[in-house]
Amino acid sequence: LLMDQLTGMDQLEKRLATKFNIERCLIVSGNSDEQPKVVGDFGELVNDALHRRLQEGTNIIAVMGGTTMAEIAKHVTPMETPKRHNLFVPARGGIGESVSIQANSVSALMAANAKGDHRVLYVPEQLSQEAYHTLLKEPSIKNVLATIKEANCVIHSIGRALHMAVRRKMTEDEIVTLRQDRAVAESFGYFFDASGKIVYKAPPIGLSFEDVEKIPTVIAVAGGKSKAKAILAYMKHAPEQTWLITDEAAANEILKGA
Ligand code: G3H
Repeated sequence: LLMDQLTGMDQLEKRLATKFNIERCLIVSGNSDEQPKVVGDFGELVNDALHRRLQEGTNIIAVMGGTTMAEIAKHVTPMETPKRHNLFVPARGGIGESVSIQANSVSALMAANAKGDHRVLYVPEQLSQEAYHTLLKEPSIKNVLATIKEANCVIHSIGRALHMAVRRKMTEDEIVTLRQDRAVAESFGYFFDASGKIVYKAPPIGLSFEDVEKIPTVIAVAGGKSKAKAILAYMKHAPEQTWLITDEAAANEILKGA
């Protein structure tokens, strides 16, 4: 029976990876909408993937924020070796999450658990154009941004568009526009419609989508039946080297129509 179950999950993983045209898909049993433990299981898988994929020398790991990422950070274990050093950085700044789930906090916690280092990006959201341009000229900020651009690994989640817009306190006008444009997914501060087209971009502080396409290790983590549409939309745009870590509930919902 156990073998049958393993094979079943294995097949589901292969079907999903093929559908999305990505390198790998890993599926945890359950539904993270209802079972918080499933997000902990995502964390274990991310930790395993990092231990396996990080290279000798210095790794720069760029991480996004959100509740999924904040939970994953708790499951990271020491990954320094005499030959390997790991530096965690926020992938993007200025997209307005509350402090505990900001990319800066996730990166700091991952670094502490991995016994590695981290850098903080001090760029607040909702800046005027002038303030933003001045800030980007500051040597300390320029330095961190240059480090972020050198990332060889990125870990991010995928959110539902309107939910994210409200959580990040975007303006009424912006939310109306997102509705008109039929945004369904959000990741990296980009909003996508069901066809995978980018319909809105947060200010370009940190990694752009073009940068992500060139990063060798890309780990996307999102699950729960409620996120199926968002995952499907984002995955139309995901770089081929992406590993998707999700749960059975999302996977079944996504493949239902396939
Ligand atoms: O960009 C996606 C969001 O950060 C996902 O947030 O993990 O809280 O659903 P969440």
